Amino acid sequence: MSLVTCRSLIKVYRVGSSEVLALQGLDLDIDAGEMLGVVGASGSGKSTLLAVLGGLTRPTAGSAMANGLDLLGCSDRDRERYRRREVGFVWQSSHQNLLPDLTATENVERPMLLDGRSGRRERAADLLAAVGLGARVDHRPALLSGGEQARVAIAVALATDPALVLADEPTGELDSATTAEIFEVMRSLNEERGVTQVIVSHDPDLVDHVDRVVGLRDGRTSTEMRRDANDDVTNAVVVDDVGRIQLPVEVMEQLGIDAGGGRLVVDMVDGAARIRSVADDASRPSGSDTER
Ligand SMILES: Nc1ncnc2c1ncn2[C@@H]1O[C@H](COP(=O)(O)OP(=O)(O)O)[C@@H](O)[C@H]1O
Ligand SMILES: [Mg+2]
Repeated sequence: MSLVTCRSLIKVYRVGSSEVLALQGLDLDIDAGEMLGVVGASGSGKSTLLAVLGGLTRPTAGSAMANGLDLLGCSDRDRERYRRREVGFVWQSSHQNLLPDLTATENVERPMLLDGRSGRRERAADLLAAVGLGARVDHRPALLSGGEQARVAIAVALATDPALVLADEPTGELDSATTAEIFEVMRSLNEERGVTQVIVSHDPDLVDHVDRVVGLRDGRTSTEMRRDANDDVTNAVVVDDVGRIQLPVEVMEQLGIDAGGGRLVVDMVDGAARIRSVADDASRPSGSDTER
């Protein structure tokens, strides 16, 4: 079942009199219980996508449904409630995730307090044990290592039992060994508690820890990577509902297509679509296709 559905999603930021197109017709489905990775160059729209899915900002056009809520058409009040209850965020740095004057336990209790929930102490203890922080629950963030702070941040994100956890470069300040540990904590929460997660990361091993990695380019999903049954990584190009694809940059270069765009010849050869440059096509002997 789809928890998140984005269709032709557009987000325009207005800065003074100019406009920035951050999402340019993005299509994406996320299943309930899925662990999704998101990659892409700086400026490709990763954080904007998370901000939209988290109800932090309203998309400009298209559609975005999350856990049954229409994120474009809903009221501010519904969006605020969704953000408080149905979404958990993990940011890159500890000071964005945790309040320095509160202990680990108090930090995890806070979202529950803001949402008026009971049973806070027990749930905080349970979550801190689940992220492997059982022994340090009364420490303030400054006394915890970077990896421990990230674990607390994950517990905070899960506090209200949200439908969706969104993590924007959660391991960006951690070394590679700690990064792998944090991904494994997130994976175990996904497997044992069915938490749906979206993780933006530049870690080259991301695909080993998640179900699927989508690549964003210019505010659209352009590629999709996953491990197949043989444990090989397949890297597929995404085709949208009207047949548009984004060619990988290397392929564009080899075909002589620059940033201004161009034209290519597409034909079917033995059941495979072949894409080649118009120049190649013109240089072929005329009529060769019909004479075969
Ligand atoms: N609050 C904002 N106001 C104006 N432009 C923004 C804002 N946030 C992001 N952008 C622009 O939107 C585009 C996508 O940014 P972002 O979603 O942060 O990408 P990423 O996280 O992949 O680096 C960039 O061109 C960025 O400069
Ligand atoms: Mg970003």
